[in-house]
Amino acid sequence: MRSELLLALALGYLLGSIPFGLVLTRLAGKGDVRDIGSGNIGATNVLRTGSKLLAAATLILDCLKATAAILLVRQLWPGTENFAAAGALIGHLYPVWLRFKGGKGVATLLGVLIPLLPVGALIYAVVWIGLLLTLRISSVAGMIAALSAPVSAAILGDQLLFPMLLAFALLVVWKHKANIARLRAGTEPKVGKKTE
Ligand code: G3P
Repeated sequence: MRSELLLALALGYLLGSIPFGLVLTRLAGKGDVRDIGSGNIGATNVLRTGSKLLAAATLILDCLKATAAILLVRQLWPGTENFAAAGALIGHLYPVWLRFKGGKGVATLLGVLIPLLPVGALIYAVVWIGLLLTLRISSVAGMIAALSAPVSAAILGDQLLFPMLLAFALLVVWKHKANIARLRAGTEPKVGKKTE
């Protein structure tokens, strides 16, 4: 079982560490997404390249890579799903291929919730989209959505998932350090703006 847990963690990491935002923008001839805007490889920054399609594709793939990892290990090694989830999120946040400088995890955390806590995923999506549409500040919407994950686990009485999702949400908030600094300085851009 111990080796299965490690395999699930490794498989999750491998899938999670695929930097779709970077790959897609490069394939589309838009250059290196890390050279524009916030320098992040996530969908919000991909949107700053001017392509809504690439941003949507990044969001969906960054989300579904975690879902895929969890569903895969559920078939291969039942009971190891949480390790695949942790691997996928850590892989996205700290990909070895990008010298551990990855994304911020908002889409990938949603992908973790879809198979592990579907009702929580629904709440997450509603919170995220609702705040995004009203505030138009992606980082705030993303951080609050991330924090909704452990809250959902607590409300739904999932005592096993609660500590893990709390750790995941805090990691996502931690990865938004630069955004928090910009929010405090009043310089955080609204969604759709190309520069910061
Ligand atoms: O999910 C990332 C988002 O919350 C912030 O993106 O590019 O504005 O730092 P960005």
